[in-house]
Amino acid sequence: MKIAVFASGRGSNFKAILKAVNEKKINAEIPLLITNNPDAGCIEYATENGIPVQIVRRKDFSLREEFVKSLLLFLAKAETDLIVLAGYMKKIPDEVLDKYHNRVINIHPALLPSFGGKGMYGSNVHKAVLNAGCKVTGVTVHFVVKEYDRGPIIAQQCVDVMQGDNPETLAARVLETEHQLYWRVIRKFSEGKIKVVNNKVFIEE
Ligand code: GRF
Repeated sequence: MKIAVFASGRGSNFKAILKAVNEKKINAEIPLLITNNPDAGCIEYATENGIPVQIVRRKDFSLREEFVKSLLLFLAKAETDLIVLAGYMKKIPDEVLDKYHNRVINIHPALLPSFGGKGMYGSNVHKAVLNAGCKVTGVTVHFVVKEYDRGPIIAQQCVDVMQGDNPETLAARVLETEHQLYWRVIRKFSEGKIKVVNNKVFIEE
């Protein structure tokens, strides 16, 4: 299976996935990293590991269609089977979602459908969880649909909120769980064990 990863930032999830691939825990390759951010930390890590990187930004194209065409071309050239969003801060164009229907996944640092939607990213999520007085938060891996954070949920894992947590301590604990969960979901996908029926996900053991 060939995975294209989209990331915009430090790329710790990308690293965790690449580690699982390199350790042969997942039978897959990562022939492409796409980013919109030339300063993203994930670029250096990808380059060190021989993963081709493409910086694709809407602002570098006068026409939206050309931007979309460029994304689709890179994805096709990489023979992409699965698109993995790992801290990608831009909306995926509808044309890409149509072409890769139920083959684009994202990880969210809370238990969707709570604490999701536009603006719910990074520390905003953890602040909202703490403000709500939640005792439990977690991680969600889901298919990506046109509406933010609303696609079929593939897997969730709870993380306790501890007394005295602040957004940073909570984020760090949630991130550790992300690193454990995401590659396992990708492995299930690579084994063809994830099925979507009526917008609900079923996973074979
Ligand atoms: C993670 O918290 C993930 O849940 C969210 O964006 C963050 C990316 O972190 N979608 P990293 O770049 O993988 O370290």
